[in-house]
Amino acid sequence: MKVLVTGGAGYIGSVMVSMLLEKGHKVKCLDRFFFGNESLKDIISDSNIELIKDDVRWFDPSILKNVDAAIDLASLSNDPSGELNPSKTYDINYLGRLRVAKLCKEYGVKRYILASTCSVYGFQENVLNEESATNPLTTYAKSNVLAEKDIVQLADKQFTVTVMRQATVYGLSPKMRFDLAVNGMTLGAYKNKNIHVMRDGTQWRPFVHVKDTSKAFIAVLGSQKEKVNGQVFNVGSNEQNIQILSLAKLVEETLPIPIKLEWYGSPDKRSYRVDFSKIKRVLGFTPSYTLKDGAREIYEALESKKITDSIKTRTVEWYKYLLEVHKLVQDVVTRGTVL
Ligand SMILES: NC(=O)c1ccc[n+]([C@@H]2O[C@H](COP(=O)([O-])OP(=O)(O)OC[C@H]3O[C@@H](n4cnc5c(N)ncnc54)[C@H](O)[C@@H]3O)[C@@H](O)[C@H]2O)c1
Repeated sequence: MKVLVTGGAGYIGSVMVSMLLEKGHKVKCLDRFFFGNESLKDIISDSNIELIKDDVRWFDPSILKNVDAAIDLASLSNDPSGELNPSKTYDINYLGRLRVAKLCKEYGVKRYILASTCSVYGFQENVLNEESATNPLTTYAKSNVLAEKDIVQLADKQFTVTVMRQATVYGLSPKMRFDLAVNGMTLGAYKNKNIHVMRDGTQWRPFVHVKDTSKAFIAVLGSQKEKVNGQVFNVGSNEQNIQILSLAKLVEETLPIPIKLEWYGSPDKRSYRVDFSKIKRVLGFTPSYTLKDGAREIYEALESKKITDSIKTRTVEWYKYLLEVHKLVQDVVTRGTVL
């Protein structure tokens, strides 16, 4: 298959693109490269990958000719980044992705997969499944809900649309993100021998390893269209719903150094738990990695200096820097806009 991956140089994208290539797919990676494209350096010379530096809001749609499937990962990828400039978040995360989906349909791309998030559920008492009401609390989550709603409606016999609501992702990637809970806790343990735990630690959150979420997207590509067309899937596993204090203790017991847990913040009761039965039942998806695997591999990569914690690994700080300091001179000149 020839697969377009938007945001393919990102934290999830750079892992997913490698896995697609390993499976023999051809990949077109469309990315604005806000974080650069070093994450793809090991595969850049592969004749089956084509890099396209462009923006989902205005790329030339002729790149969609002969593409079989699209995996739409590009977005401002967390809640705080989404609040830096809400109108740009709405333009990229909602309208930009709707544009990708509509153009895919127009150009005869057969399948489209939207990378959404379990944060569309907001914080709720019950265990939430795909039928539960959404409760988006931030610009990021609201844009995802809007994108899901309008894009699912494009599904028909010729155009298979699937929405993937991912749990919070963890694990090693060529483009690290330390603003994600497991990764950030492991970094804190490695650097300062402590883990900051948000009070009161009883909050539930769902998690999935970066290779497992990639595996789930690839499973959708290969599945019968009747099983996935117009469908929404929570991506993760019931076993990896965990309370924040338990997660901190799990990271502490996994790593080979003494670590102190330190509380911060005022008591935060915002909690949610997600039911992942549907993806297991319909796609046979089960994760191959555990939270301990994630903490361990990140710790080892930090120790061996394979990864470091530059500002680019903290999403909101990097976007702030792009907006306020660096000003992306070249992009301002060519497009009249920084983000
Ligand atoms: N990482 C998680 O825990 C998580 C959880 C749920 C959902 N998601 C979603 O999965 C997707 C991928 O997340 P990630 O963690 O890899 O994020 P990321 O920030 O590491 O990667 C996003 C990529 O998209 C690119 N991009 C951003 N705006 C663009 C635009 N306008 N045009 C073209 N490219 C653009 C960036 O340059 C970057 O390479 C995102 O949509 C995110 O919201 C991520």
